[in-house]
Amino acid sequence: MKIGCPKEIKPQEFRVGMTPNAAQEAVARGHEVIIETNAGMGSGFDNDSYVAAGARIVDTAEEVFATADMIVKVKEPQAVERKMLREGQLLFTYLHLAPDPDQTHDLLASGCTAIAYETVTDRNGGLPLLAPMSEVAGRLAPQVGSWTLQKANGGRGVLMGGVPGVGPAKVIVIGGGVVGTHAAKIAAGMGADVTVLDRSLPRLRYLDDVFGGTFKSQYSTAGATAELIQEADMVIGAVLIPGAAAPKLISRAQLSTMKPGAVLVDVAIDQGGCFETSKATTHADPIYDVDGVMHYCVANMPGAVARTSTIALGNATMPFLLALAGKGWKKACQDDPHLLAGLNVHAGQLTYEAVGTALGLDVVSPEAIVNA
Ligand SMILES: NC(=O)c1ccc[n+]([C@@H]2O[C@H](COP(=O)([O-])OP(=O)(O)OC[C@H]3O[C@@H](n4cnc5c(N)ncnc54)[C@H](O)[C@@H]3O)[C@@H](O)[C@H]2O)c1
Repeated sequence: MKIGCPKEIKPQEFRVGMTPNAAQEAVARGHEVIIETNAGMGSGFDNDSYVAAGARIVDTAEEVFATADMIVKVKEPQAVERKMLREGQLLFTYLHLAPDPDQTHDLLASGCTAIAYETVTDRNGGLPLLAPMSEVAGRLAPQVGSWTLQKANGGRGVLMGGVPGVGPAKVIVIGGGVVGTHAAKIAAGMGADVTVLDRSLPRLRYLDDVFGGTFKSQYSTAGATAELIQEADMVIGAVLIPGAAAPKLISRAQLSTMKPGAVLVDVAIDQGGCFETSKATTHADPIYDVDGVMHYCVANMPGAVARTSTIALGNATMPFLLALAGKGWKKACQDDPHLLAGLNVHAGQLTYEAVGTALGLDVVSPEAIVNA
């Protein structure tokens, strides 16, 4: 199969769909890999590293789209990229179609087959191609939060780990899923005193079993949150209610009960944020102050560490990519129901129920399509 990887063109996107290692694995299996020039530069992979892996560098995205049987990307195709997709071509990338009728329309009109990273599942009911980005955002949260806690950045001037004779920072993590667990691990590793809140008892049991000596866990209620935030130096918002906007767990009025210069890191900002005063910010201007409490609300946190994020995403996508290239999308989806769960669009038909519901469009079952 001819596998093409264009340079990402969405503003502030430095990741790339294929690493040189992924290219090498594909080439070793007899596939041809075509990379747009400088596609990997934002993640620290130069053209030579792809050439060494056996890939071919081309000058333009047009050449990639015109030549490749399968396009591998990171972000949803932008309008100009969607015009280059063609019937029978396979697209493998994040799509997030439910809030995006224009993209959905264009993908249907192109006749391509589109598999969305975010809806591929695993046998534990998880989302294996979303998890790496949650791991990155979670691990980054205490890092950016501790920077914000520094006096010059508006914070209250508290060191995460304290020093001998001076206590550590108190960190509250609301939501103990993928983001929250990684955030808590790193904050505890920096020496902070960490408490994780969740509403899922099975999840709290897991956290207690595995991390009992490292951080504390507590059942999440409005009362528990109200009490804990009064003592907190940093609160990390990491909740998710699948398919819904994030619940608002700290109100503006509650900010006055917090310590001046305390820090809120709202990782759930991409779902609307879990603090009433959260509004999305960018890496260029990530923090702001409301009533003396500092807020960090960057919606694409993994972009700050593009190289780590690219490699982590590539590790997760590679087995699926190799299956798609080796067997063709239809056989690969017949053999793997978790990959089939990623099928969102095929030959002008929408195949993902939740997208159809969100956009009021007819849906054909993916099983019917692969078994046709
Ligand atoms: N800003 C970014 O760059 C970025 C990057 C990755 C993920 N995210 C977002 O981070 C959020 C968390 O993602 P995740 O992968 O950890 O999800 P997850 O499903 O693994 O975990 C969410 C957890 O929140 C818990 N929860 C739900 N309601 C709660 C409440 N009221 N109180 C306490 N806990 C509650 C759930 O029980 C679950 O354990 C999502 O909104 C995701 O989109 C943002």
